[in-house]
Amino acid sequence: MNAAPQSRFAIRKFEIADIADALKIEHQSFPTPWSSAMFVLELSKSASICLAATEDDVLIGYLVAARYAQVWHVMNVSVDPANRRAGIGSSLIHELFRLADGERTHYTLEVRVSNVAAIRMYEQCGFRSAGTRPGYYADNREDALIMWRSTDDNFVPPNATNPTEWKGHR
Ligand SMILES: CC(C)(COP(=O)(O)OP(=O)(O)OC[C@H]1O[C@@H](n2cnc3c(N)ncnc32)[C@H](O)[C@@H]1OP(=O)(O)O)[C@@H](O)C(=O)NCCC(=O)NCCS
Repeated sequence: MNAAPQSRFAIRKFEIADIADALKIEHQSFPTPWSSAMFVLELSKSASICLAATEDDVLIGYLVAARYAQVWHVMNVSVDPANRRAGIGSSLIHELFRLADGERTHYTLEVRVSNVAAIRMYEQCGFRSAGTRPGYYADNREDALIMWRSTDDNFVPPNATNPTEWKGHR
């Protein structure tokens, strides 16, 4: 009997040296991929968390988050197409939570309304939608879904379309 394939990946800090491999994943993942300069900019910020998922020392996924005031913005999460649906994206997000969660820590992100895979992953990680930004994406004028997660049960996102639905939920 054949054993099911197992993904044995590790998560570590994303380094400048990872950028070249990340760009290959970017180009397979996004219609408007990040440039090298965008990765360098995020890595240079003192209030950023940049994580790499590797298998046998090969980069197979990454996450970039930056903190503005009290809110962590998840700027980029991407997994190599050959390694998707193996828990890597959600593990990167949970590692961000492990590193950044405090008593009142908030996280937000924008995601294309058509990106069902990412929306499901974020929901599974505790994010909830709180409205849209119409025409947010320049390439096709697609709307962005705005999602939030907070460690504070009483937190209500500033742009929540249904503020009362947020109270008491995580
Ligand atoms: C979105 C993305 C990062 C998910 O990474 P991943 O490692 O495949 O995600 P996970 O394996 O951790 O999946 C976690 C959950 O998300 C959901 N999910 C992931 N991919 C899915 C898909 N293709 N269809 C439906 N649900 C999906 C599932 O609920 C999954 O849990 P399950 O496998 O137990 O059912 C990956 O598809 C990707 O890199 N996409 C291109 C880049 C992108 O869109 N990034 C997000 C930009 S905002």
